[in-house]
Amino acid sequence: MAEPLLVCTDVGVRFGGLQALSGVDLTAGTDEITAVIGPNGAGKTTLINAVSGMVQAQRGTFRLGTDDITRAQPHERSRLGLVRTFQNLEIFSNMTLLENVMTGCHARLRVAPWHSLLRTRTSRAMEKAIQNEALEVLDFVGLFELAKYQARDLPFGKQRLLELARALAARPRLLLLDEPAAGLNMSETQLLADLILRAREHFRLSIVLVEHDMDLVMRISDQVLVLCFGQVISRGAPAQIQRDPQVIAAYLGDDED
Ligand SMILES: Nc1ncnc2c1ncn2[C@@H]1O[C@H](COP(=O)(O)OP(=O)(O)O)[C@@H](O)[C@H]1O
Ligand SMILES: [Mg+2]
Repeated sequence: MAEPLLVCTDVGVRFGGLQALSGVDLTAGTDEITAVIGPNGAGKTTLINAVSGMVQAQRGTFRLGTDDITRAQPHERSRLGLVRTFQNLEIFSNMTLLENVMTGCHARLRVAPWHSLLRTRTSRAMEKAIQNEALEVLDFVGLFELAKYQARDLPFGKQRLLELARALAARPRLLLLDEPAAGLNMSETQLLADLILRAREHFRLSIVLVEHDMDLVMRISDQVLVLCFGQVISRGAPAQIQRDPQVIAAYLGDDED
């Protein structure tokens, strides 16, 4: 494996009486795509939440590059280059595409408040630079022409791409995607797969994605982690996972997959 960027060790998350995750180890190499799969309720989203800091794990350690982020708040983690998207799409529907993506840039570039207040030349130059950057990212995901439209007017498939664009605009080192293909049709899913692969190259990213679409997982991931009832039941290369009897049994027991 390439040099690990993310190392999570012995992660445990409990919600009241429910042990959502226990003893989970997750390592994501630099430039690697890691897929997290498993039946519904297995703890996949909880793992993403624990890595992004939105859920505080009761057990375990989290390291990003050389930083121990175990106790870091979500905004501190994002400043260190850890950026996520959501299973239930999160975009600002009453803003334009351009404004949506600019919020991603803003998460990274901080203009000192007095600059914005006084509308100094610096702040205007910054805004312009941010706008250009946002347009570049919109172009990257193929939404450049639609930059001035309201996000709510986009078809669902394009809203998913917009969410991805906003995440990319924050220039993550590690991108966490929670079911990016949910709600997409087959051709949109293929487009997304190409885009994720291109994004890894272009932005030099590591990616951890939760995904139900097995074709997508098999096509783009370098390694797969299989969760079931909050525990890792298998891990390895996609082809290896596909043949694992434990994995097959876990999926056969789940009607929705
Ligand atoms: N905030 C929460 N409070 C209580 N229970 C939760 C919370 N988030 C998730 N859970 C529970 O934890 C388990 C794992 O959920 P989740 O991580 O969303 O699964 P997955 O994404 O694999 O479908 C489920 O039983 C779910 O109901
Ligand atoms: Mg989930």
